[in-house]
Amino acid sequence: MMRAAIRRLCGPVAATLILAQGLALAGMDEHAARRAHVLGLMDSSSALVLHSAEIQMRSPDANYRFRQESNLLYLTGENRPGLTLLIAPRGIHVGDTLAHIVLFVNPAADDGALSLRPVADGITVHIQRFHDVFAQILPEISTLYASSFSPAFMADWLNNRPMFLERESRKELEKKYPNLKVKNATPLVAQSRVIKSPWEVERIRASIAATGEGLRKAMELCRPGIREYELQAAIEYEMMRRGASAPSFPSIIGSGPNALILHYEHNYRTAAAGELVVMDVGAEIEGYAADITRTIPVSGTFSSEQKKVYNAVLHAHDSIIASVRVGMPWSDLDKVARRVLAAEGFEKFWKHSVSHHLGIDVHDVGKMDTLRAGMVFTVEPGVYISEKDTTVAPGFRGIGVRIEDDVLVTERGGVVLSEAIPREAREIEKIMRKSKR
Ligand code: GLY
Ligand code: MN
Ligand code: MN
Repeated sequence: MMRAAIRRLCGPVAATLILAQGLALAGMDEHAARRAHVLGLMDSSSALVLHSAEIQMRSPDANYRFRQESNLLYLTGENRPGLTLLIAPRGIHVGDTLAHIVLFVNPAADDGALSLRPVADGITVHIQRFHDVFAQILPEISTLYASSFSPAFMADWLNNRPMFLERESRKELEKKYPNLKVKNATPLVAQSRVIKSPWEVERIRASIAATGEGLRKAMELCRPGIREYELQAAIEYEMMRRGASAPSFPSIIGSGPNALILHYEHNYRTAAAGELVVMDVGAEIEGYAADITRTIPVSGTFSSEQKKVYNAVLHAHDSIIASVRVGMPWSDLDKVARRVLAAEGFEKFWKHSVSHHLGIDVHDVGKMDTLRAGMVFTVEPGVYISEKDTTVAPGFRGIGVRIEDDVLVTERGGVVLSEAIPREAREIEKIMRKSKR
């Protein structure tokens, strides 16, 4: 921790507070507090450089919707192309000014529709100055943390071609500066991202609430003959009218046999009476993801075999959530799922681990070692029985069930942020029945 550097930056009171991760610092905005925290994790011989995501072409003259590189979004809140953030605990000279944080902006890269917040804890300058500033800092440092978002994401300041974590250009940089090691920035920034601030939890809650409204609407609309994409459209409509900029990942609406395909996203099929539909969806609001799965019977009522599988998965789900404690090894979550599904006779139909971090990314960064207060993660056990599986009675064949909720770790255990979204079989049946009257 560079206490002296941070003290210079934000005064002695803030410097003490920075030590407590997850606290928004008194008098500092959320993103400045994050930058101060990451700065405090770096040693004086290192620098961090992050560049905006590249605009990706979808077809001639049409681009994919822009989405910021996640570490840069975390540290600036700016969802725009053309930004480069440089952080260095030893200080960066830009002309006569010395700063620890410099945000380079390229106004030409951006349509100007969104106003940019200059960094109050550093300086904001034109991208033209990047070359000189960066050239000055490289000989002075031994570690450069750079983003690994895309190998082609940063113009090569050495040779004007794509560089950074592209292996060749990284080597080239290390050859030119023999004392320099180029490292992936994500593990560094993840140490901060892994614990969510109250501000972040609020955004995740908003995304979850929008997702929940979408799932309710889908439960109401679902009937035999509905297309998977109709359910997708209804869910995404409800999410977007509540402020989602996009789904946080491609919506998965898998009916019948498609319920067994984990990252199915064609969503083209017609759902038939007697089948289940797995709906794994999430809104993204202000850059924060939800990730929720509900499995519903197309005709509004679970068969007895479907209900047996559903309740086994729900039992595993509830048991995992009830086990959540600060200090618990992450791997214990899978052990709880395994124990319950084994007792219910469905262990061999379980195909994936039951959780991942959730935040700016739907599969958010951070070690999955020990549960700590402020972490947000998914709980998502599932059972998937092949149509061809002759080891089970015919009524069980082709059943795929997943139930996924989003959980905040607190000192008092797990808080289910998606508690309000119906998950009991009889609640789902009730909603489906009521809407058909
Ligand atoms: N939606 C992808 C997942 O649940 O991990
Ligand atoms: Mn999911
Ligand atoms: Mn998930």
